[in-house]
Amino acid sequence: MNPNKALWEKGDFTRIAASMRESGEALVGSLGITEGLDVLDLGCGDGTTALPAARLGANVLGVDIASNLVEAGNRRAEAEGLANLRFQEGDASNLEDIGDDSFDLTVSIFGAMFAPRPFDVAKEMVRVTRPGGRIVMGNWIPNDPTLVAQILKISSAYSPPPPEGFVSPMTWGVESEVTERFTSAGAQPENVSFERDTYRFDFPGPSVELVSIFRDYYGPTMNAFDAAEANGKSAELEEELVTLFEAQNDSADPSTSSIPATFLRVTVAL
Ligand SMILES: C[S@@+](CC[C@H](N)C(=O)[O-])C[C@H]1O[C@@H](n2cnc3c(N)ncnc32)[C@H](O)[C@@H]1O
Repeated sequence: MNPNKALWEKGDFTRIAASMRESGEALVGSLGITEGLDVLDLGCGDGTTALPAARLGANVLGVDIASNLVEAGNRRAEAEGLANLRFQEGDASNLEDIGDDSFDLTVSIFGAMFAPRPFDVAKEMVRVTRPGGRIVMGNWIPNDPTLVAQILKISSAYSPPPPEGFVSPMTWGVESEVTERFTSAGAQPENVSFERDTYRFDFPGPSVELVSIFRDYYGPTMNAFDAAEANGKSAELEEELVTLFEAQNDSADPSTSSIPATFLRVTVAL
């Protein structure tokens, strides 16, 4: 099986996404979405950004490689009666089912960054977005001191080395790399812009419980625990993560968690 698909189907990202809803809605609120806009949400998970975009009246297609998340997204859309939102399976590296110039806005929040072959991903995002349209990505930043970059850094230290030729998803958090990918896909360099933004993970329990959610349901952390377990190091990994989460939790009430994470917001005007 495609290892990228296996990684995300292994867990249940809906359990993490539940802590990201408020930030997803706030981000969508900043995108200038209007009634009838055609929006693609790539690597959409169970719809943290796709649902709020559809609630604003956009026609939204969510595409994700994980079939369990596509099903979860469609269940959420149905439960809310959002007839202008549907989810389907697809790979950001090759959107073969989607025609050229299909969307006004292509959004990918911590989604397409995880697909292999980043130059193909940029090419596909540009291809399916109309001239005059926009691409907006949210990408974690390598070596950033905040939550998710640190989870991924700690997890990779316990995981086996990646296969030859593997390009780290974190390179999507490096401005020069992102510009090179989009310009080689046909965008003008002056139309690729960057800003730092923050997501918040809000969880109704202490940080130690949020670590357990990541351990049990977040593919990259699950793989790290599997590898650590085989080397007798799972307690060490757990301790590193608990220390990280507790240090970063800025909730006034320690029986709940609210943890900020910085990301690179990329906008490409086509
Ligand atoms: C960290 S989650 C983010 C999900 C969602 N965008 C959100 O904000 O909640 C990463 C998502 O990217 C999806 N993904 C990973 N590789 C992909 C690929 N090649 N094509 C499409 N989706 C992919 C995963 O299945 C997962 O849903």
